[in-house]
Amino acid sequence: MPLPPPGPVARVLVTGASSGIGAAVARALAARGYPTTLVARRADALADLAGELGGLSGLEHEVHAADLGTDAGLDDVRALLDDERVVGLVNAAGFGVTGRVADLADDAGQRAALDGLVRLNVLALHDLTVAAVGALVRRARAGGPSGAVLNVSSITAFQPLPGAASYAASKAFVQSFSEAVHAELAGTDVTLTTVSPGLTRTGFAEAAGTDAFDQVPDLVVGEAADVAEAGVAAMARGDRSITPGLVNQLSALGGRFTPRTLLLPALKAGMEHFGA
Ligand SMILES: NC(=O)c1ccc[n+]([C@@H]2O[C@H](COP(=O)([O-])OP(=O)(O)OC[C@H]3O[C@@H](n4cnc5c(N)ncnc54)[C@H](OP(=O)(O)O)[C@@H]3O)[C@@H](O)[C@H]2O)c1
Repeated sequence: MPLPPPGPVARVLVTGASSGIGAAVARALAARGYPTTLVARRADALADLAGELGGLSGLEHEVHAADLGTDAGLDDVRALLDDERVVGLVNAAGFGVTGRVADLADDAGQRAALDGLVRLNVLALHDLTVAAVGALVRRARAGGPSGAVLNVSSITAFQPLPGAASYAASKAFVQSFSEAVHAELAGTDVTLTTVSPGLTRTGFAEAAGTDAFDQVPDLVVGEAADVAEAGVAAMARGDRSITPGLVNQLSALGGRFTPRTLLLPALKAGMEHFGA
């Protein structure tokens, strides 16, 4: 049993909980009876969500404002995983940057954004996953509860993406690292699950500086609540990986198996069409 039964001492820490998929995951966990610790930079948005979840679930939802792109913020959040009540971690904090690397390189602000992307999407996720897996396995071996981690990847993990090169590479790291650790954890009572959404209506597009989501058919853009339900259900089962939605599953298959010589020019043209 990976995610132990819900209860007041079965707490799940969720990063990126101030909006989008992270907030939806927190709602899905609270609806199942798990108290949460909500992490992001925007303290007021976290407090609003904690109030909403407390009203719905009657459980105590805690907030912790932190910038996971800084050493101090990461140290603070890592320390929260030492709390014996924590049985789960969801790494949803992340953002994208669009544009060609050669163009971004000429702009100091964009270069800082790319650096911040790698710090958050790769380094912070890696650091918190390692800390959580270590603590959860230690507790399970000592006779404590089972535990579970959910990492938010993306269908961009399955192929390089010209126009969002650093973002897709960061998600390839998340996918590869998480699937390998899932296999390592077999037989430990601790699991690591990856959810790999496609385009999802959240604050992501604005943060990434793209209006691509407005230019594609509605059918292609999913809802954060659906991604969260699929991700939390897979986490509760201890699955290796889930890609929610048929369109996204086909896209992931295409990304994996289409020869790069065909795929990369097509993706480059597509991203240029969307201004990236
Ligand atoms: N939306 C999509 O189409 C899509 C598709 C595939 C994968 N994803 C992935 O889904 C995850 C969630 O994104 P989303 O779509 O829900 O976008 P979102 O609505 O913009 O949410 C991003 C979250 O990350 C937090 N965050 C950003 N920088 C942070 C930092 N330095 N420290 C701590 N928290 C930080 C934000 O909170 P604050 O601003 O308050 O810090 C926010 O809660 C990301 O990993 C993203 O890559 C999204």
